[in-house]
Parts: sequence; C-alpha cells; structure tokens
Amino acid sequence: MTRKLLLINGVNLNLLGKREPEIYGHTTLADIEARAIAHAAKHHVELICIQSNHEGQLVDEIQHYGLLAELAAQVDAIIINPGAFTHTSVALRDALLATKKPFIEVHLSNVHSRERFRQHSYLSDVATGVICGLGHLGYQMALQYWLNNLYQPA
Ligand code: DQA
Repeated sequence: MTRKLLLINGVNLNLLGKREPEIYGHTTLADIEARAIAHAAKHHVELICIQSNHEGQLVDEIQHYGLLAELAAQVDAIIINPGAFTHTSVALRDALLATKKPFIEVHLSNVHSRERFRQHSYLSDVATGVICGLGHLGYQMALQYWLNNLYQPA
C-alpha cells in the first residue's frame, strides 16, 4: 500500500483505559489503534501507529515518517495527540513543521474547559484542524477527514 497515514500518541496515552477514566474514558489505546487501522485498511490506507512517553522519540518518528524515510515509506498526513507535550513542546512543533505534512491535533478531553495551562497548545495554530472533548471518537473523525480529503475513492 502506498497510501500511508501516521497516528501518534504522546506521553501517558499508553495508560488510556486505566488513567482517570472519568476524563479520558475506558477505551484503551490498543482498541483505538485497532479500530483505526481496520477502518483505514478498508480505504486501502496503511495507518502506522506510534506511542511514546519520550519527546525525543516522538521527534525521531515524525522526522522519519515525515521526511527522512524513502519516499514510498513516508506518510501523507498525521494525526497527533501529544498528551502533555501539547502544552510544552516547541520541539514537536518544529519537527511537524519540518515535514511539511499536514496534521490534525486530537485531544480526548476538552482542554479548554480544564486547567488554564492546558489552554495553550504549541501545535494548534499550525494544525489543519483541532478536535477536542469528543473522547476516542475524535481519532476516528480525524482519520475520516484525511480519508475524505487526501484520497480519491479507490
Ligand atoms: C490530552 C490533554 C492533555 O492536556 C493531557 O496532558 C493529556 C491528554 C487529551 O487527550 O485530552 O495527557 O492530550
């Protein structure tokens, strides 16, 4: 498959399902990824899923799939929930901009209705779109957006 998308989850998102389920829900990251991979595959798109708690690792993956890998291995667009790195990481912003690949920022919770420090994102102003507060459905919506807008029907 040459059509490729990248789903990136950052710090603490490996704990989904166990971590503050009243805020982040009961769905695990494995469930979110499996559903998204299956849906993408129906549209002949390979969805590459990455999660890391390490900022530098996320930068490495973005650089690889967005810019450094051979062209056939590069992704067409990105969906990213950086977790708390959203509010701290100039490095992730720079890595995403370096790739020139469009990306959608996703948050399970409504970051605007929470603590003040969550209301600033280093990514939002350069994202194609931002989805927050819709729980795990936000990932599906971001995926559907890329499927509808990047590719001709197969
Ligand atoms: C989050 C919101 C962030 O503020 C928080 O640090 C997270 C998860 C979300 O998906 O709602 O880890 O990105």
